[in-house]
Amino acid sequence: MTETSVSLEAPDVLRERMVEELRERGALTSSAVEAAFRKVPRHQFLPEVSPAEVYGAPEALFTKHNERGKPVSSVSAPWLHARMLEAAQVTPGMRVLEIGSGGCHAALLAELVGEQGSVTTVDIDPDITARARERLAEAGYGQVRVREADGAQPLQDAPAEGFDRIIVTVGANDLSPAWMDQLAPEGRLVVPLRFRGLSRTIAFAREGDLLRSDTLIVSGFVAMQGDSAHAPRAVRLAGPDVRLVVDENQPADDDALTEAFAGPRHEQWTGVELGPSGGLLPRLDVWLAGAVAPYGRLRATPEAAERGLVGWVLDRGAPAAWSHNSLAYVALRRAPHAPQERFELGVIAHGPERERLAARLADAVGHFDRVARGAAEPVVRAYRRDGRGPGPGQVTVDKPSVRLVIT
Ligand SMILES: C[S@@+](CC[C@H](N)C(=O)[O-])C[C@H]1O[C@@H](n2cnc3c(N)ncnc32)[C@H](O)[C@@H]1O
Repeated sequence: MTETSVSLEAPDVLRERMVEELRERGALTSSAVEAAFRKVPRHQFLPEVSPAEVYGAPEALFTKHNERGKPVSSVSAPWLHARMLEAAQVTPGMRVLEIGSGGCHAALLAELVGEQGSVTTVDIDPDITARARERLAEAGYGQVRVREADGAQPLQDAPAEGFDRIIVTVGANDLSPAWMDQLAPEGRLVVPLRFRGLSRTIAFAREGDLLRSDTLIVSGFVAMQGDSAHAPRAVRLAGPDVRLVVDENQPADDDALTEAFAGPRHEQWTGVELGPSGGLLPRLDVWLAGAVAPYGRLRATPEAAERGLVGWVLDRGAPAAWSHNSLAYVALRRAPHAPQERFELGVIAHGPERERLAARLADAVGHFDRVARGAAEPVVRAYRRDGRGPGPGQVTVDKPSVRLVIT
């Protein structure tokens, strides 16, 4: 290795390059978050990994696996830290609660709240709290309070006025009542939420007893442990190769849907076209969850596509709807008459009700194209399930503690 390459790999240089890249890709947008990124020695939170890997990591770096080899803890990717912190809108003097303690994100928060503010980070795993405490102290952030607790439960020594920001850094299936109870009146909650087979980190602003989203980030997180642990339900339509992922509380008849999937298919193309980036699909995915019920995701392996079991669906899955004995999902094809690389959305359906179901889902895609395609991101409203939520007739996404309405 030459002297130049050694000096190029110095953590400060690597960090500076990471900041530039995050700015270029639009993940860093404010000078405050950028300054925090310039300051926090990310590599000290991952001493087992080389600084070059830490600062260049495109995605999360795992720090613990369970006995089955499944990752249970990580330090999230730089772009995701940046986007979550920008969405959180943290300012000096705030009281912030972080759930899930990798250490690095808490250090960034400590920079943002400054000496007048406070950061508490909570993790359910004693190995992780011990690690976070040690790493934070060594990096010069000993003022961050580290607590071992289930973050879905109320925090014992929470400030009476509530937290100005609650930032959940672990995949949740519900919005815990404790977060609403311990969030200040003008507070913001940032949380990776799983719903209908989708996973979005959502930044909510509190509006009285209601939470209203203003940012949706496509992201994956390790799943929450403890009393609120959950596993999405998957109906195996063709062994492990084709699955329909649904929320636990959504009825789906495994046998009838598997039988339907083995039967003939019906296709309905919508005339709704996409450009080559497909950038519209993540918005369509969320919007449909607020327009179609029941709604879930069809996931298929590349082998399933090769065997002709499914139409063209992307690897993160396709929107799907079903009835007691039939199912339909959104698929793509190259737009037949388009002059350049364009794709058309359509619906493929199976089962005795395939034509009706395909027409319903295609109709919803057409509706999105007419009313929501040109609009900003879908808005998610979260109501407590105390009877004061939205009126009847609306499609809702029901979670154990909240009812979501997506428009
Ligand atoms: C993705 S890691 C946190 C990342 C971190 N904030 C960072 O700096 O990048 C998720 C953490 O959530 C923790 N966790 C899982 N379930 C939890 C729960 N119910 N309450 C608190 N922490 C939990 C895990 O132990 C894990 O350490």
